[in-house]
Amino acid sequence: MSESCKKAYITTPIYYVNDIPHIGHAYTTIIADTLAIYSRMAGLETFFLTGTDEHGQKIEEAAKKRGKSPKEYADEISGRFKALWDEFGISYDRFIRTTDADHKLGVQAAFKKMFDKGDIYKDVYRGHYCISCEAFFTETQLVDGEFCPECGKPTQIVEEESYFFRLSKYQEPLLEWYRENEKCILPKTRRNEVMRFVEGGLEDLSITRTSFDWGVKLPEEMQDPKHVMYVWLDALMNYLTALGYGTDEKLMDFWPARVHLIGKDILRFHAVYWPAFLMSLDLPLPKHIAAHGWWTRNGEKMSKSKGNVINPKEVADAYGLENFRYFMLREVPFGGDGDFSQKALIDRINSDLGNDLGNLLNRLIGMSSKYSDGAVSSTKVAELYPEELAELHASIDRLEPLLFEMQLHRYLEELWKPLTVANKAIDRYQPWVMMKEGKEEQALALLGLIANILAKVAVMLHPVMPQTTQTIARALGFTINHAAYEDLILRKDLLSDFSVEKVPPLFPRIEKVRMVEAAPAAEGKPAEPKKAEKKTEKPVEGLITIDQFFETSLKVGTVVEAEEVPKSKKLLLLKVDLGEEEPRQIVAGIKEWYAPADLLGTQVCVVANLKPAKLMGMLSEGMLLAAKDDEGLALIRPERPVTVGTAIG
Ligand code: MSP
Repeated sequence: MSESCKKAYITTPIYYVNDIPHIGHAYTTIIADTLAIYSRMAGLETFFLTGTDEHGQKIEEAAKKRGKSPKEYADEISGRFKALWDEFGISYDRFIRTTDADHKLGVQAAFKKMFDKGDIYKDVYRGHYCISCEAFFTETQLVDGEFCPECGKPTQIVEEESYFFRLSKYQEPLLEWYRENEKCILPKTRRNEVMRFVEGGLEDLSITRTSFDWGVKLPEEMQDPKHVMYVWLDALMNYLTALGYGTDEKLMDFWPARVHLIGKDILRFHAVYWPAFLMSLDLPLPKHIAAHGWWTRNGEKMSKSKGNVINPKEVADAYGLENFRYFMLREVPFGGDGDFSQKALIDRINSDLGNDLGNLLNRLIGMSSKYSDGAVSSTKVAELYPEELAELHASIDRLEPLLFEMQLHRYLEELWKPLTVANKAIDRYQPWVMMKEGKEEQALALLGLIANILAKVAVMLHPVMPQTTQTIARALGFTINHAAYEDLILRKDLLSDFSVEKVPPLFPRIEKVRMVEAAPAAEGKPAEPKKAEKKTEKPVEGLITIDQFFETSLKVGTVVEAEEVPKSKKLLLLKVDLGEEEPRQIVAGIKEWYAPADLLGTQVCVVANLKPAKLMGMLSEGMLLAAKDDEGLALIRPERPVTVGTAIG
């Protein structure tokens, strides 16, 4: 374990096989891949794990719906994840599947160890279960006594014999861990959230189920064959079984993980249950659990059930895989949500990549071939441009901590500063004027400065854009690898003299939106073409364009349920059918003017792409259109009944 600081174990969540890969999954995987490439380049022995989560009720049901056995179904979807990561060149060291034999043995070994320690006992579980989140909830946590507080779907009442893990025993040790390790959960705001949750008290956790079969059985010696492991115990254990825990422990010296990358939706499982399981197994805890935000589409989380997923392969095919990688990491502060927009992607490609980086390389290629037949030397750079060089190295020094604290957008922002230094130096010193004035030495040293800036930026950008940066390096006469990292970054050496190799422009300007958006990702069906995004016109003050108006999705729906919200003077709780999989829940402040009975069966106009919000603890997934004057409030309704879900506009 003492060697662990020279090792880096980096993980993604293992993805459920009920969904096909979308940009949310790609985002997590690309961040992890970036960290893994960086770690290897920096000389750390690195193990990068990803894979699929294949057990549990949700998968069993999804397979049944398609008339397949759970294993057949899991093979198919798991294969799609693996194929996509392979196509994207993701540098994972193992793709684990929870149906792998060694994983199952490892989970059983862990169960046995926790049981022998007295951390597991048998009882009866009575409570609510959300199949979609694969999570248990107490009565008080539910919305309206029935709905899942996480995803809003109805929960099931479960009463069955179950083994329990003594989570309550770990409340204090967990709090101590959070307190003593400021960066154990990133971003730090998430750590506070987790601490508040744990301070509220922890109940023991049901960790086996008997009402279905698709999971890891208990160890044989327990002689209790009707139980299968709770899917989250099974899934979390992948981080250990991938290293051979309980079977062949050769790789266990990679433990503890440097970072578990996750989405914020699964923070509780990783920041509460997982460290408690690890404490029970007498293993050290991960260094960081880093939770990123959601990719949304018009403010809504992207997910198959909402039919608003973006296919990462389509984006990569249309705009270039590495441009897409850069965009995802640069566009959204880690931890925050980000709305996917092709316009923003095109802006990043044209501006950051094309103008700032690509043009700089083109200018270097152009000027050096004109002034010195392509020869570039670093000899006079330190003497003639000491300030610029100092700025470059100061930026480089600030980078690594930003990366390992998941401040990836700031990492890239900082990395762009030397490019600005270079571009400004060209404007300020105007090498073409220097050449005319006979200051050849200064002009050529300026080219040397630009080459060194480009080289060092390329090395540090390499984890994000692995191939493009090798092309830049090739133009500058070197290859990016550990030795280059040591020389150019750690030792701050300058490039050896070289002759520029001409490479084609790396980021040709994108004029038009290219991608055909993915249709609702029904498995098995190919994506159907949809309207591509239109170019937005320049805004005129006070007026919006037709495109801007259409960013608001207005739809007609029928009220299928209506009731008063107890203790509220203003609110009614409605279910409105918008022609989607399930009616939307809308909490509307119209109680003073409408009784529930007056609304049932009537049609209303709904803002359908509002970010869901909670009102008095209840999820509201839209807003009704209404007009209010001195006489009171009047709902806006279509003149005649129209098909539910009809768009207004
Ligand atoms: N199987 C569990 C994880 C078990 S890990 C021991 C699971 N799988 S999942 O497929 O539903 O989602 C996994 C991860 O995908 C999320 O935590 C997040 O990292 C990523 N994303 C899924 N949808 C996303 C967005 N819309 N946006 C960003 N990331 C999202 O949960």
